[in-house]
Amino acid sequence: MIFIFITYLHLLFDNFIVLNDNAEYWQIGFQDPATPIMEGIINLHHDLMFFICVVSIFVSWMLGRTLWHFNKLKNPTSSSLTHGTLIEIIWTITPAIILLIIAIPSFSLLYAMDEIISPAITIKTLGHQWYWSYEYSDYFNKEDESISYDSYMIPEEDLENGQFRLLEVDNRMVIPINTHVRVIVSAADVLHSWAVPSLGVKCDAIPGRLNQISLFIKREGLYYGQCSEICGINHGFMPIVVEAIKLPQYISWISNKLNE
Ligand code: CUA
Repeated sequence: MIFIFITYLHLLFDNFIVLNDNAEYWQIGFQDPATPIMEGIINLHHDLMFFICVVSIFVSWMLGRTLWHFNKLKNPTSSSLTHGTLIEIIWTITPAIILLIIAIPSFSLLYAMDEIISPAITIKTLGHQWYWSYEYSDYFNKEDESISYDSYMIPEEDLENGQFRLLEVDNRMVIPINTHVRVIVSAADVLHSWAVPSLGVKCDAIPGRLNQISLFIKREGLYYGQCSEICGINHGFMPIVVEAIKLPQYISWISNKLNE
């Protein structure tokens, strides 16, 4: 009751609501998708679930029937049959055909994820022990400086009401919605991994190597992710927050950053 009341107060006094895309308590499914790629991943998962259900029901049924009919009580004298060519061909070909059917949507999704469609913006993200840094090298101010900043986790004692423990950062990565964005991922010291579930992104950050991913975010919001490669003692304390905003707001954010 008190909780509902507090939520209601929040709705009254907050003049805007931002969607927060992060994990929920007792969640077993995916987070809500925000990119076409994540929608594709969820669809592929559902398609695969169909095959998994059919295969596991059939195999369990066969196992059950075998145990029921062919035991010492029901069948004291065992058959001398050891193999049959036809059945072996069938149980080799059938799984192969199922795998081929699965391969078609799987490969098309894989290549779609790899595709970089003439990006409007390129952002570089570097993994460090233990924080992320972001570079917007497309823009320069009068002093010929581009935008770059570090993104640290907010420690537990500094959290404000409504903020997520171990997920909130001081400087978010800001990108516009409905825009093709290229993110170049690398690391300055050891292996890290830049991963945001709602965006369908998990990209290794490797020192001395540039990996690239493309983002096309369809709705405004805050997207939470975490480093996903064991990188040292503070691996669990270098979260990622992507703030997706409308293009005009993004442009004013960029010009503010350039004038800082
Ligand atoms: Cu950086 Cu784990």
